[in-house]
Amino acid sequence: MATTLITNIGELFTSDPDGPFTIEDAALVIEGGNVAWTGRAADAPDADERVDVGGRAVIPGFVDSHSHLVFAGDRAQEFAARMTGMPYAAGGIRTTVAATRAATDEQLTSHVARLVAEMRRQGTTTVEIKSGYGLTVRDEARSLAVARQFTEETTYLGAHVVPEGDPGEYVDLVTGPMLDAAKEHARWIDVFCERGAFDADQARAILRAGGEAGLRGRLHANQLTYGEGVRLAAELGLAAVDHCTYLADEDVAALRDSGTIATLLPGVEFSTKQPYPDARRLLDVGVRVALASDCNPGSCFTSSLPLCIALAVREMGMTPAEAVHAATYRGAEALDRHDVGALVPGRRADLAVLDAPSHVHLAYRPGVPLVAATWIGGRPV
Ligand code: NIG
Ligand code: FE
Repeated sequence: MATTLITNIGELFTSDPDGPFTIEDAALVIEGGNVAWTGRAADAPDADERVDVGGRAVIPGFVDSHSHLVFAGDRAQEFAARMTGMPYAAGGIRTTVAATRAATDEQLTSHVARLVAEMRRQGTTTVEIKSGYGLTVRDEARSLAVARQFTEETTYLGAHVVPEGDPGEYVDLVTGPMLDAAKEHARWIDVFCERGAFDADQARAILRAGGEAGLRGRLHANQLTYGEGVRLAAELGLAAVDHCTYLADEDVAALRDSGTIATLLPGVEFSTKQPYPDARRLLDVGVRVALASDCNPGSCFTSSLPLCIALAVREMGMTPAEAVHAATYRGAEALDRHDVGALVPGRRADLAVLDAPSHVHLAYRPGVPLVAATWIGGRPV
């Protein structure tokens, strides 16, 4: 098999918790799309092809474990109103539902393609994509079929809000015919567990039905208020629970004891003017913390993990290294993926070359497009 040597790496950020986290003056060898070797450039083995990155830093490609890319329209006016004092409310989702139902499959597909390309340019190499703006059997199934064209990590979010009618009847639809139509296109099932959306009992029933259909559970919880969602996720041993903005001490203890990953989404707090979640409080007791974009037209329309890293460092008490680790290795863990998220032998050679000498610049130079190249499976994209 042909081998590629990437050399003259100023700093290789491996994101490997079990090995050297960073290697200076480094090199990396790729074989068969995977990382085959990492170490000091001076010790690198020969390879068929040689790429000199001129002292730039190389990091693992970002693993964005939470996004809602399948939608039509935008809610820029809602954002502008929030910036002058209107609070964020879950009900805004229905505006996007109407636009999404009216869009063609082709329109939805080309819109997702545009957003995924935007993510790639910012270093994201794995993305999870949810449904949740269809909320009929047909529209949830087609949203997931669109998402599947771009990723294996698709999530059925029929339980985003009750679009219309009786909530009990809607939960029956979500756990019945809609689940049947969605399951072939989805790996995960998610529920927006929040006041104004679904309560903990409804979330439990929906996750149980999803589990029986072969889908793995994850949750949106504690975004707008304190609530039972985080404790439910911990009790059920879910891979991840997302948002975690309002946490009581017992929620933090439940996350620590269960090992469920807390996925923080600071772009949401930026775009809703909510308080940022306290990552330091979680990390200090040993909770595993991931960072993701939550890219969606309502609460947060950014696709940029570099922005989320900068916010996490500036506002949430994370070090730059913790933040990059959270957006790579922890993001992979949040999707129960062990083949991406770190630059170690055996994992896929998904990486970002930074126009900067170290990972610190991602937070130090906020808003600057620092990703010079993105590679997936050992090839530039
Ligand atoms: O993750 N919280 C629920 N869903 C999205 C927002 C959806 C919307 O406002 O359109 C989120 O923040
Ligand atoms: Fe979300």
